[in-house]
Amino acid sequence: MKKYNLAFITRNCGKIDPHSIDSYIEAGGYDTALNIFSRNCENIINEIKKSELRGRGGAGFPTGTKIEIVYKLNITPKFLVCNADEGEPGNFKDRFLLENDPHQLIEGMIITAYAAGISKGYIYIRGEYNKAIGILEKAIKQARQKGFLGKNIFGSGFNFDIEIYSGAGAYVCGEEFALIESIEGKAGRPRNKPPYPVSAGIFNQPTLINNVETLSTIPFIIREGAEKYTSIGTPSSKGTRLVSLSGNVNRRGVFEVPFGISVHEIIFNLGKGIPGGRRIKMVQLGGASGPCIPPEMIDLRLDYEEFDKNGLSMGAGAVIVIDDRHDILDILRNIMVFFRHESCGKCTPCREANRHILNILDKFIARTATEKDLSTLESILNVMTDTSFCGLGQAAPTAILTALKYFRYEFLSGIYKEFEIRNAV
Ligand SMILES: Cc1cc2nc3c(=O)[nH]c(=O)nc-3n(C[C@H](O)[C@H](O)[C@H](O)COP(=O)(O)O)c2cc1C
Ligand code: SF4
Repeated sequence: MKKYNLAFITRNCGKIDPHSIDSYIEAGGYDTALNIFSRNCENIINEIKKSELRGRGGAGFPTGTKIEIVYKLNITPKFLVCNADEGEPGNFKDRFLLENDPHQLIEGMIITAYAAGISKGYIYIRGEYNKAIGILEKAIKQARQKGFLGKNIFGSGFNFDIEIYSGAGAYVCGEEFALIESIEGKAGRPRNKPPYPVSAGIFNQPTLINNVETLSTIPFIIREGAEKYTSIGTPSSKGTRLVSLSGNVNRRGVFEVPFGISVHEIIFNLGKGIPGGRRIKMVQLGGASGPCIPPEMIDLRLDYEEFDKNGLSMGAGAVIVIDDRHDILDILRNIMVFFRHESCGKCTPCREANRHILNILDKFIARTATEKDLSTLESILNVMTDTSFCGLGQAAPTAILTALKYFRYEFLSGIYKEFEIRNAV
């Protein structure tokens, strides 16, 4: 049988006690961190570059390159931030790692900080993740007691410690500059780029920001080597990634999958298909700000190049399955309610467009829309994508834009009486 569910970074999940550092150590944990002090930083960075690991927070930036940029800056202090904000609906894989293997993340942060010459780390965690916060607080305390965090770690001359910073539930605070502003004690709002956080982040000091999954992958790469990591995947996408599978599937959850697996395999092999044998109506990829694809496209493989070719983004790895009982316009409305609520209001396109889009969607749902509403909707979505100040506003229209491409009849049925097919199942 084909092996879909690999365990590179989830190998300890469900097997060790996340409340006990000894349980992690017995499973071979922290050995890698202890061994790095005899290696130089370039050597570690090169191993990460060779692994072709790309950020799992959404943008997919090459992780080794980002670490190298910070390493090369001869400025102190430098900061490492683990982005554990995970505010995007449909994503819950970081919570899974935080709750099941907190020490793997801490070990990944120690290795990354050592490689980049950083002595202070933050975990910026979503405020609602109370269970994960408790587990992390305990884990950091235990790591300090055992000497893995603190000053002169195991006589290496390397100092590193981690502070937990809890967000207040704003989705925009996952955006790197909004997150930085929040850590600095200000309201979480994005800043102009460039300069990027790697050169001018927290208090204008070099700041390396990485996702929970990205940092949790580092111990595997350094322990097992880049060659083993790249032996899995496709020519353009190496290793494994976590997928948060939700919606109308028989088995929801977090799965570690090899790159190259198809959306179809995720839904039918890992998710055990659709309850009641119903038909899929649409699948949303990446989360609320991700594209909506029709069932004819689910042979799409998880692969950066294949997604690019189709004009799609993988985001943070969510797969949300919607069966044929649901109305696509209602789902899009829910998504836009989320974005209207989460818009920070700093820039006009995002602040105003979310409101207008919702008003127009309501007309389609009430079946009182006109052709003019359709063209206005399309132009607002495009302006919002092109002119919003940060990634929140730039990506918020993606779901509707892709729905307009692949499910146009749903919108047309809001205008023309003869399009009765919208709710026909
Ligand atoms: C509105 C918004 C929310 C985001 N939320 C998160 C988040 O919760 N977690 C995350 O890792 N990245 C999030 N990102 C992406 C981060 O800004 C950043 O690119 C990422 O943390 C970099 O880590 P990586 O290179 O390991 O992916 C968000 C981006 C935007 C625009
Ligand atoms: S795009 Fe939206 S969230 Fe981003 S700065 Fe503008 S108003 Fe704020």
